[in-house]
Amino acid sequence: MIKNIAVIPGDGIGPEVVKETIKVLDKVAEKFGHEFKYEYLLAGGCSIDEYGKPLTEETLERAKASDSVLLGAVGGPKWENIPGIRPEQALLGLRGGLNLYANLRPATMYKELSSASPLKSEIIGDGIDIMIVRELTGGIYFGESGRNETGDWAYDTESYSKSEVERLLIHAFEIAMKRNKHVTVVDKANVLESSRLWREVTREVAPKYPEVSVDYLYVDNASMQLVRNPRQFDVIATSNIFGDILSDEASQITGSIGMLPSASLGDGTFGMYEPVHGSAPDIAGENKANPLATILSGAMMLRYSFDMKDEADCIENAVAKVLEDGIRTGDIAGGGEFVGCKEMGDAVVERL
Ligand code: IPM
Ligand code: MN
Repeated sequence: MIKNIAVIPGDGIGPEVVKETIKVLDKVAEKFGHEFKYEYLLAGGCSIDEYGKPLTEETLERAKASDSVLLGAVGGPKWENIPGIRPEQALLGLRGGLNLYANLRPATMYKELSSASPLKSEIIGDGIDIMIVRELTGGIYFGESGRNETGDWAYDTESYSKSEVERLLIHAFEIAMKRNKHVTVVDKANVLESSRLWREVTREVAPKYPEVSVDYLYVDNASMQLVRNPRQFDVIATSNIFGDILSDEASQITGSIGMLPSASLGDGTFGMYEPVHGSAPDIAGENKANPLATILSGAMMLRYSFDMKDEADCIENAVAKVLEDGIRTGDIAGGGEFVGCKEMGDAVVERL
């Protein structure tokens, strides 16, 4: 198969981790007889430098024209103080502009990394495997916001329509059907009207999936349950802001945010794939970053957008093998051989 991939390396460690992922994708293409064509695009801080804004129309159009997007990370201190402009606007612009409303963030613990988890071994048990399905193009991150004239009062708005909630929940239930058939809806329905709408819509969607059990947790309780008893979760379906926060928390219980991939999907097979971690400007360019989250995002691209299950399994198995063999970047503690970003990429390619 020939696939056109829009590649957005971004800022900080983005280009390094993306480079290793391209090596892995090329090896998979060679092994399985595919051809991946890459078009490199600027977004985030590097786009501000080049075009004066974090995301241009042209970049968005080119991303739209591709079969799917691979993104590294955006942002950094260099672009923190430009009035009205932030590199992160590129992410929101891409997600919104490409209508990628369902963000899948799997928090999977590799048994080799269990010592890197801050949780006790009796809590971890035989491992953690949670799929957070975060709404990605609505809620407070996309709501009306502003200030008054004097600038001493500011507001942001959380709002959801029934159809926005419904399409997100359908993704969550469909995924649950392929997993352990349990969905936890996380909200703040004891306070927020929009959360009460989430519950109403869940009660409408759930009967279409009679095999899936559903429960509801308030987000404050959910954040506690994630560290107290993470194995109670299978799929978590939640709003944009709650999913943002809980996915960072979930990443830590698995050992490292440097391991977690994500997929952003809409109605069709098109998707955008990026690590959950950020641009880590403090270690950028030092060959210290962990490329595995981006490599695993590449595997998700093959699985969800290109329907290449064997190819995706192959990458995921190679990553597991690298960990079994004791190869580690600085963020994943626990002995073994410490290597740089490039060497980690090489190690995965070798095992493919
Ligand atoms: C993430 C990031 C982004 C988000 C920011 C940078 C806009 O934190 O992907 O989780 O909140 O979605
Ligand atoms: Mn985040």
